[in-house]
Amino acid sequence: MSKRKILVTNALPYANGAIHLGHLVGYVQADIWVRFQKMRGNTVYYVCGDDTHGTPIMINAEKQGMTPETFIAKMYDEHVADFAGFHIGFDEFYTTNSPENKALASNIYRRLKANGKIAVKTISQLYDPQKQMFLPDRFVKGECPKCAAKDQYGDNCEVCGATYAPTELKNPFSAVSGATPELRQSEHYFFKLSECGEFLQDWTRQPGRLQKEAANKMGEWFEAGLQDWDISRDAPYFGFEIPDAPGKYFYVWLDAPIGYIAATQHLFDRIGENLEAYWAEGSDAELYHFIGKDILYFHALFWPAVLKHSGHRTPTAINVNGFLTVNGEKMSKSRGTFITAKSYLDVGLNPEWLRYYYAAKLGSGIEDADLSLSDFVARVNSDLVGKYINIASRAAGFISKRFAGKLAVELPASPLVDKLQSAAGSLAEGFETREYSRVLREIMALTDEVNQYVDQVKPWELAKQEGKDAELHGACSLLINLFRLLTIYLKPVLPKLAADIEAFLNVGPLQWNDAAKLLLNHEIEPYSHLMTRIDTKQVEALVEANKQSLSPAVVPTTSSIEPIAPTINIDDFGKIDLRVARIIDCQHIDGAEKLLQLTLDLGDHTRNVFSGIKSAYKPEDLVGKLTVMVANLAPRKMKFGVSEGMVLAASGEGPGIYLLNPDSGAQPGMRVG
Ligand code: 2FM
Ligand code: ZN
Repeated sequence: MSKRKILVTNALPYANGAIHLGHLVGYVQADIWVRFQKMRGNTVYYVCGDDTHGTPIMINAEKQGMTPETFIAKMYDEHVADFAGFHIGFDEFYTTNSPENKALASNIYRRLKANGKIAVKTISQLYDPQKQMFLPDRFVKGECPKCAAKDQYGDNCEVCGATYAPTELKNPFSAVSGATPELRQSEHYFFKLSECGEFLQDWTRQPGRLQKEAANKMGEWFEAGLQDWDISRDAPYFGFEIPDAPGKYFYVWLDAPIGYIAATQHLFDRIGENLEAYWAEGSDAELYHFIGKDILYFHALFWPAVLKHSGHRTPTAINVNGFLTVNGEKMSKSRGTFITAKSYLDVGLNPEWLRYYYAAKLGSGIEDADLSLSDFVARVNSDLVGKYINIASRAAGFISKRFAGKLAVELPASPLVDKLQSAAGSLAEGFETREYSRVLREIMALTDEVNQYVDQVKPWELAKQEGKDAELHGACSLLINLFRLLTIYLKPVLPKLAADIEAFLNVGPLQWNDAAKLLLNHEIEPYSHLMTRIDTKQVEALVEANKQSLSPAVVPTTSSIEPIAPTINIDDFGKIDLRVARIIDCQHIDGAEKLLQLTLDLGDHTRNVFSGIKSAYKPEDLVGKLTVMVANLAPRKMKFGVSEGMVLAASGEGPGIYLLNPDSGAQPGMRVG
């Protein structure tokens, strides 16, 4: 088969936050696919980079007292380290804030304009008069127009699920400054997506473009009708200024996917490859975008249309993955399941354990994948270490000690060699179509059969018997060969382990078609242990390291800080008996809008306390936590029962309530003062 030319991209992560295990699903999925294609001998380039523009990054940088450039440079280093830590083998990890991207975005815009695909329209938008900026929907907050819930974002209500325009919020305020926003008019530039329906429907219909679920979603969007897309934002904005439009900037989502081309260009300039061959109209290379399901709209509607009308080729296919749940639930900061890539590596967990687990969970569809932490430990320990590594550890020692490290000249007859070799076709097809869970099931079924052979031939017993040297040599050489075949098949998933095994086998980088060969009369290196089991304590430490209380949505400004109360003396303070308490139960109360019912353990007795923290905490997130309570407050009769004290929580003028937590080590009943 002739070599394919393939360009693969992963969604460019925003440079305003850490990479977490949810992100990694898509990166691991694409990386496995790329590694497989490279092992097949295809020419593959794998590019990505940071997505660096937009209001959230601008605001975050300012909050941290940095320029956006310094802020994104710091994030860049962190992202590069996280991806390297998980063996994501990008050929290029670039940034959208690059000269290449600026030139490409301007050129693409000019071509769209020349092709009549840009319109200018005046729109009304909320404006923060204090901060002197237009506010994106997420930066306006207020009361939900439907259910009156307080502190809701400008695009949808998290309490009743309603969606609305930010102008519909009651008592709106700017999440940046707290000021009351005003409605102002401004000229915006639009990409005429409304004119691209026919092209997009046709593009979507080509075989292999989209998974079934994604194609269905597109159908819904076509049905609803395509709207022109607002591609400009007013200054101040961190991004690229639009040519001939002073004070107007490209919306981050316009230049983000162009970052795929910029990253390719940066790579190709370095290695002397031709950009047109991969990106120009009529290119015969394949182009695949791996993305999460939340950004399908941008990649399957805007992006192909922008490419098409600016003289570029369009993607061969868009491969969409679902979200990650942890222990069956949405990742949660308070439960410690919003796990950063860095924290995983920091507690000493092996990145290949996670790669293996993700692969075992991933099919070609877009359904969510679940990381069950107990299943993760069980599966890695039993499959990867208990079955696969076990094969080498059973055989390798004898080869070194008894046969000077040399494999036999020929192998004993065994149906397993043929069985493992002839699996290559089906496994390749599984990798090609991203049916990784099927691939790993098949590999593990073969691994089970090899282990049955180990149990049957019992090398450790042969080793004790007189005159069985040739048999031992043959059996162990066979096992090393079977282990090598399994390693070839697992290499896209476990690249670092495969490299260690190549060193142990004393062979060069294994390619897919090496499965047709065997290793005979060949000297291998002494065996040293290849992979340890997961210790449950590491997983516990991981969850602990990621536990956070909810972070403030709005940083208080000096003007919103409440004045300090009149002075009291130490005796006044001494009257307040503050104690450490553990929340041992927490319940919703029927009919109570703001209250949660807490059962507090004070060391020698428990208390029933009602607390107005419902807007900030879910009951299940509080159980087990330590807090501080006023223990000698007179009991108060309330609508729902008697409250026997008060828990301490911080709150300011803006939204948000923050329960106090003593430092670790404090025990229920301890006095605070
Ligand atoms: O959703 C996101 O995280 C975006 N930063 C993805 C951008 S992908 C591409 F278009 F750049
Ligand atoms: Zn609502």
